[in-house]
Amino acid sequence: MAKKSTRFYCKGCGHEELRWLGQCPGCREWNTFTEMNISKTSDTKGSRGFSAKDKQQTGFGAGAASGGAQAAWPEAVGPDGRMRPVPLRKINSADKKRLRVEPAEVANVLGGGLVEGSVVLLGGEPGVGKSTLLTGLGLSWVRQDIRVIYVAGEESPAQIRMRAERLGFDPNKEDGFDILPEVHLETLLEALREALAGDDERPCVIIADSVQTLHSEQVDAYPGSPTQIKYCGGVLADFARQTGHPVFLVGHVTKSGDLAGPKLLEHMVDTVLYFEGSGGGAVRMVRAVKNRFGTTGELAVMEMRSDGLAPVDQAGVLFLSGRRGAEPGSAVCAVKNGSRTFLVEVQALVSSSRYGTPQRVVQGVDNKRVGLLCAILEKRAGMDLGGCDIFVKVAGGGRIDDPGADLAIMAALASSLRERPVPIDTLILGEVGLTGEVRQVADMESRLREASRHGFSRAILGGDKSGRKARKMDGMEMVTASSVEEAMRLALESRGRKAGGRA
Ligand code: TYD
Ligand code: MG
Repeated sequence: MAKKSTRFYCKGCGHEELRWLGQCPGCREWNTFTEMNISKTSDTKGSRGFSAKDKQQTGFGAGAASGGAQAAWPEAVGPDGRMRPVPLRKINSADKKRLRVEPAEVANVLGGGLVEGSVVLLGGEPGVGKSTLLTGLGLSWVRQDIRVIYVAGEESPAQIRMRAERLGFDPNKEDGFDILPEVHLETLLEALREALAGDDERPCVIIADSVQTLHSEQVDAYPGSPTQIKYCGGVLADFARQTGHPVFLVGHVTKSGDLAGPKLLEHMVDTVLYFEGSGGGAVRMVRAVKNRFGTTGELAVMEMRSDGLAPVDQAGVLFLSGRRGAEPGSAVCAVKNGSRTFLVEVQALVSSSRYGTPQRVVQGVDNKRVGLLCAILEKRAGMDLGGCDIFVKVAGGGRIDDPGADLAIMAALASSLRERPVPIDTLILGEVGLTGEVRQVADMESRLREASRHGFSRAILGGDKSGRKARKMDGMEMVTASSVEEAMRLALESRGRKAGGRA
């Protein structure tokens, strides 16, 4: 018999408390606690807040009275039927099979393919193209004889058919892409089990679009609430691990990123992908922020076309297009995103403030990092930014996390303050420390190669002069600076010959 109890959840990070709190101890946000009624069975609760009995009711651990782990790991069950610890050597370390993913860009982000039995959360703003991406991936699996079941919670089956046709699929000729329009979790699992019964050998990818529309009768809360999302996501994750069929969970994130949904699921899935647009155009990026089966930091750049998503040619210079010429307040650096190199233009505008408190508006770079770099400029390079409004942005809507862009951000600021342009053929690369020292960045070679390919002929780099020979690489002149002051002087000095860089 289920009994009711009340819990309080943080809408931001999902932190759970028995009483209401003004400030969340998890994420330190104020006024984010919301009350939830949950029904509780008398069994001992599992770590995810649902018990073995719940699991049985939702279709798991069939035959094993005490839940999923026993069914998945018979080695761990002793002669008395109880669980016991298993030595590492007895655990099968065989590499899990990966399903091929197309386009290769997305496969790369997933770590080389989709691991069987894995759970992937795809988060993104509404309308960015999550359903389009997953339908496209689904169609490529169907063509490899992998089954796809698309759980349609958001759209009608007719809309999904229209989308698939738009992406070049002919439902009358090709088979294997099934739609399951069911959002009630228990009925959904029942239907999945029935559909997959007797078809154990053939992999089947399950796409739940979206997890916010699912609801279980085990939880007394409205669909889309933190408790429902946590519960339904958890049950589907268990389903993937126990059956070996990979599951994709789609989760909406709002612009401010504070919607409870996807964040709550991050710790229970294997891979978290974020799908984002760039600068309001057709460019879309998929990045992995967590990946148990690969690295994070890989980035897939794609373009939304009228017939679906396609990889972008020349993605390396995507954030440079539209540069007009050498103008004050602009500097280019080469940043790494996983294994790929992108040339990125940082723009800054520094103007004296008309109001009491100067403004600082930053887009595409961490605000605090810009504050720190401004402080270093003031203290170590003698630039007075005190009474100035400061605006910094990454051209083309990109985002920079790479510390190697420090020096370029500073050069853009200094260039705007002094009203002197950085020569258009000059690349700026270096990580800056609090004492004003400039360090070399990792993986310099590939960055310089990319810049050289696109017409840059001079690079200002961090590093110690004594340890480095002045040299040229790929026709690029490399100038080293060991301090911020020196680097700014080199970046802003007017050079005699005509700069021949990319416009
Ligand atoms: P959608 O995948 O429905 O977004 P989400 O699932 O993230 O909410 O796609 C949203 C937009 O993409 C929609 O405005 C239409 C556009 N679109 C294209 O430009 N080309 C296409 O081939 C498709 C299918 C959609
Ligand atoms: Mg959608």
